[in-house]
Amino acid sequence: MDGGRGPGDVDLSVPNVARMYDYYLGGKDNYAADRALADQVLEVAPQTPALAQENRGFLQRAVRHLAGAAGIDQFVDIGAGLPTLENTHEVAQQVEPGAHVVYVDNDPVVLAHGRALLEGAAGTRVIQGDVRRPDEIFGSAELTGLIDLARPVAILLVSVLHCVRDDEDPWKIVRRLREMIAPGSHVAISHITAADHAANATAGADVYRRASTGMTLRPYPAIRRFFDGFELLDPGLVRLTEWRPREGAEPRRDLPTWYFCGVGRKH
Ligand SMILES: C[S@@+](CC[C@H](N)C(=O)[O-])C[C@H]1O[C@@H](n2cnc3c(N)ncnc32)[C@H](O)[C@@H]1O
Repeated sequence: MDGGRGPGDVDLSVPNVARMYDYYLGGKDNYAADRALADQVLEVAPQTPALAQENRGFLQRAVRHLAGAAGIDQFVDIGAGLPTLENTHEVAQQVEPGAHVVYVDNDPVVLAHGRALLEGAAGTRVIQGDVRRPDEIFGSAELTGLIDLARPVAILLVSVLHCVRDDEDPWKIVRRLREMIAPGSHVAISHITAADHAANATAGADVYRRASTGMTLRPYPAIRRFFDGFELLDPGLVRLTEWRPREGAEPRRDLPTWYFCGVGRKH
């Protein structure tokens, strides 16, 4: 795709984090400016596409667990991103055919593509929302029309909280989300970090200063704090490949530790 204006009269000259991520995943919903900046990230952090794939793997394994053993049949996927292979509703409904899924994103291109993909898909909805305004998301009739907040729900915050700056207090956002969900609800989080090869991770994150949203790398304890008030499920807050790998799968050991992920349960 190329051109000057996109869906919803979007300025396509501004590199966009959702479309750069789509490029890393081999998607085609990205434009020249997105690819140019993503290529600059790849120069300093060439492992980024492999980590994006591993991040999707974490999301899918977490959703499979939540819809299966954890018995969750309602999902709110915040910062959902552009549709790709094995989206949340596809994974959840493989396990629990009646599962409801609400996708939330603040990017108009994501919303347009998401709505096109989901047209006619049962039990799913794409809504515009900003993770920094949790009350608006959970108070919207579009969400509560599909999600019963009196019952347990899973909130996915996969690869999105690092788009929120420290001065916007992402910990307060997660605390507020926890207050709004019923006991038995879960949260799944993945977040970028620079636990090794820090110079490359930092250089990659610096490139995002020119994108629609910056990237804040956070150390392990800061990411662990998102789970305050939740019981952190086994195996805890770990590298992407370490979160309940599929039986028989040989996890990649060659990737830097640039993400931590985990799933928590509210009692
Ligand atoms: C790296 S993508 C992650 C996509 C998907 N969750 C995944 O992990 O595969 C980050 C997504 O977060 C969205 N995003 C960034 N800031 C946001 C905000 N303040 N509110 C809602 N979504 C946001 C972007 O538009 C993008 O789609």
